[in-house]
Amino acid sequence: MARERVGAVKGLFVAFEGVDRSGKTTQLQLLAQRLSEKHEVLLTREPGGTPVAEAIRVLLLADDVQMSARCEALLFAAARADHVERTIRPALERGAVVISDRFVDSSLAYQGVARGLGVDDVERINHWATDALEPDLTIMLDLPIGTSSQRDGEVDRMENEGELFQARVRRGLLDLAGRAAHRYAVIDASPSVDEVADLVWAAVPEPWR
Ligand SMILES: Nc1ncnc2c1ncn2[C@@H]1O[C@H](COP(=O)(O)OP(=O)(O)O)[C@@H](O)[C@H]1O
Ligand SMILES: [Mg+2]
Repeated sequence: MARERVGAVKGLFVAFEGVDRSGKTTQLQLLAQRLSEKHEVLLTREPGGTPVAEAIRVLLLADDVQMSARCEALLFAAARADHVERTIRPALERGAVVISDRFVDSSLAYQGVARGLGVDDVERINHWATDALEPDLTIMLDLPIGTSSQRDGEVDRMENEGELFQARVRRGLLDLAGRAAHRYAVIDASPSVDEVADLVWAAVPEPWR
């Protein structure tokens, strides 16, 4: 599917992807600190990033809520549509660096692959939801599921799915990175926080560092 960016955009859009506890939140905060010396940096997250999308997040991640897989996929896409139009695009248009904790690839891997809805269908609804916006760079933090499950972190509805589900997510994310390698940096997330941070920094395009 053609996924050209719509409209002229001055900023840099970076997404962090990876299974739960791979270190996304830790690393994107460190990257934001470094980039904020030279640039306006907007840190945001999915699902979330606007009041409506944060309300949808509560519904999506509550561990006592049950919903169909298609409903789940559409709610993620709905939250993302608001996030893109009202938070991400305006920031990119004023030249900011936008760093998002998860983006479309999470839907492709969790709903498309792990829930079995199919990557193509989930991609289609997200292409429409985002009006074809995609990250300039996706930092993919890769970690074996056994390692990630030993790290601290809150357990939400997605994490309750267990290690087989998480392993399908991990495989799905790696396959996405393999499809368009020039827009991804796949980084081994098992070394120390500082070592991973240096690898993340090295992946940032030169003019922005
Ligand atoms: N490189 C690392 N080595 C060991 N522990 C880490 C590392 N990076 C993050 N952690 C710890 O693992 C947990 C999950 O990290 P977090 O950044 O919240 O992951 P995510 O946002 O991907 O779920 C946190 O307790 C964090 O302090
Ligand atoms: Mg996190």
